[in-house]
Amino acid sequence: MNIKKVVVIGSGTMGSGIAAHLCNANVPVTLLDLSTDISKKARDRIFKSKPPLLLDKSKIENIKVGNIKDDFDCVKHADWVVEAVVERIDVKHSIYEKIFQNRKIGAIVSSNTSSIPIKILAQNLTEEQKKDFCITHFFNPVRYMGLLEIVKNENNDLNKINSLKKFCETELGKGVIICNDTPGFLGNRIGVFAMQVAMTEAFKMKLSIEEADAIFGRPMGIPKTGVFGLYDLIGIDLMADVLKSFIKELDENDLFKVVAKEIPLVKKLIETGYTGRKGKGGFYRINKINDIKVMEAIDLKTEKYSPSKKINIQSEKVDLKSLISRNDKFGEYAWSVISKIIKYASSLVPTITKDFNDIDEAMRLGFNWTKGPFEMLEEIGVENFFDKIDNFEGNIFLENLSRTKDQNFYGSRQKYTDIETLGKVKKRAINVDGNNSAQIYRFQDYNIVEFTTKANALDYDSMDALKRATNKPLIIINESTQFSAGVNLTYTMNFADKNDFKSIEKFIKYFQVTCKHLKYSKHPVISAPSGLTLGGGFEVMVQSNFVASHTNIVVGLVETIVGLIPAGGGCKEMLARWLDTDEAKKDPNYAPLKVLDIIGYGRTATSPIEAEPLKYLKPEDKKIMNRNSLLEVSRKILNDNQDFKAPSETKFNLPGKSVLVEMNKILEKLYNEKVIHDHGLKVAQELAYVLSGGDTSIDKSLSEDHLFTLELEAFMRLIETKQTQDRIKHTLATGKPLLN
Ligand code: NAI
Repeated sequence: MNIKKVVVIGSGTMGSGIAAHLCNANVPVTLLDLSTDISKKARDRIFKSKPPLLLDKSKIENIKVGNIKDDFDCVKHADWVVEAVVERIDVKHSIYEKIFQNRKIGAIVSSNTSSIPIKILAQNLTEEQKKDFCITHFFNPVRYMGLLEIVKNENNDLNKINSLKKFCETELGKGVIICNDTPGFLGNRIGVFAMQVAMTEAFKMKLSIEEADAIFGRPMGIPKTGVFGLYDLIGIDLMADVLKSFIKELDENDLFKVVAKEIPLVKKLIETGYTGRKGKGGFYRINKINDIKVMEAIDLKTEKYSPSKKINIQSEKVDLKSLISRNDKFGEYAWSVISKIIKYASSLVPTITKDFNDIDEAMRLGFNWTKGPFEMLEEIGVENFFDKIDNFEGNIFLENLSRTKDQNFYGSRQKYTDIETLGKVKKRAINVDGNNSAQIYRFQDYNIVEFTTKANALDYDSMDALKRATNKPLIIINESTQFSAGVNLTYTMNFADKNDFKSIEKFIKYFQVTCKHLKYSKHPVISAPSGLTLGGGFEVMVQSNFVASHTNIVVGLVETIVGLIPAGGGCKEMLARWLDTDEAKKDPNYAPLKVLDIIGYGRTATSPIEAEPLKYLKPEDKKIMNRNSLLEVSRKILNDNQDFKAPSETKFNLPGKSVLVEMNKILEKLYNEKVIHDHGLKVAQELAYVLSGGDTSIDKSLSEDHLFTLELEAFMRLIETKQTQDRIKHTLATGKPLLN
């Protein structure tokens, strides 16, 4: 089976997301809806989406649009027809009738339903038609969520399902899990149960919504939106519909039913239009007080809103063992929620799947959890878990485990794919070294460094691990959401607050020394970024010898936004890349001016396709749709470069004063036009000085160390200013830059 053309029917949230992602995979796709006006609007939404659904916005026209009356002929030429219309069985049945009358013989037809069993969807199909029919359940937003659940029916042609799986894995980059026809399949069955437990326990234990979200979030390896935040994000009304469909489908004695009961406050919120972020607000809302926007949270008891409180539970890292043993309400809540999730998930093995680790994977790929319930159990420790847990009668999985007490019960990971993933390799690798910020693994003949801090922010320890790991070929890769959001600003500000600028200088120098070491060590270094690859994270990547990048990256040098300049080699490397162009050979000012524009505005790219014109990535860097494949591709680069020789040092010929004069003219104009303000001007002038090469002229050849020194000196001058420190503090406190 060869999928060369696809038709998606229904251009709402999911249909448009699926069409956009097919476009990302360069597959011609037609998007149909009741009217062409609706599908055209959907295409406009795709174009404007944030974060962008498209890797390359200029490809938008590759998504053809039409309506089901006049344009249904396109179904005749499609190899795959995806139905993503409203969740109504009558509508879906009538669409299938039309599709099967028109489809090419053998073409696959699938539904994106999230809750209708395949036996009901397929009930009017002939045995022959059923062979080619399945459910392909994508998650929202399609480009970014890794999970795709495929549900088969008993008549399916298995070869065809396997080729569809392969296509979705390789071309669309999805983690494809084949599921049984059980309500909510894997992801939603456990994920929605977990949300309901987290919510009902918060009510029961009288926690505030901020407290619950502070626990059912980062400390548990769950996205920081928490549970009430996630409810608001998904839509409180939509969640109510989802629960209704679970109640309808599930057995009378299913534990889900206990936590899915209607909550009076939720009902009231929906009735009064508080349906979440898309409505007037939800559990949280933005209120304007004296023209200032204030985030408010609802009190679960009084049902009144008041300004949302920041909860500090003093737990930076995911450490479930310590979390559940805390002697306070947070520990109690965490244990209560985690133990219930583990109990429920394990009670469903083997009915919903015989491979329990598929459940973990569904939670990771479909809900962005760091660990699924079974890995949580493994982390808590089998002995520890059974010491704490009460009644688990009738739960075959737990009964067996309580007998064997086998701490290694987990076995291999990610069984749903043949790809040699980081998750699989880590289980077999030797953990040779590590510290608070990174771990070093040895696998066969190479090392792996995995950063382990929040957002993988970099500090002295991260650099130390990188430096020590270069005694073998090195792959820098990780399983968390971000490659690295940059230098750890909290770490830096702790020194600044004590006026200990010497320590900051020492750290930045070490950062530079490490990056230079990565670039010139005798073994090759590969960075395999995914997610945020910003500031210092970009500097690590750009000074690696090879790059294998996931297509979902956000990459760039954003230091100027907090009043700093890149000082770990970012200015230097960007200059090197722009100096190596035909334009720069003709015009000595070309490269410094280009880089001033890119770094000065803190430009970022949201895909490799956007990154290349900025030269954040090079054409020869590998770009990979499936995040699971990053390690395999990196490994292949090592194999292909057995005779690797470290590059020779880059030399720089920069114009110095002559370009600086031009740059300052540009900056003054921007200042006069109020595009930049006092401190912005100072930051930009410091950046300009570095990029000009300082006190030099075009005939002088400058070393990398010279540029490192210029970067460091400018960085230190800026970090010592109150304005830069204020910007950093503001960003750390609010997550947003201070623009003045
Ligand atoms: P939506 O309400 O955003 O879009 C549905 C679209 O179908 C609308 O544009 C509507 O005009 C169109 N439509 C209705 N009847 C049609 C017909 N007869 N022919 C052609 N188009 C028709 O819905 P959404 O959220 O995109 O959901 C679509 C499917 O995906 C549903 O089955 C839903 O359960 C499932 N799903 C939804 C997820 C989500 O997060 N929204 C996640 C995973 C699955």
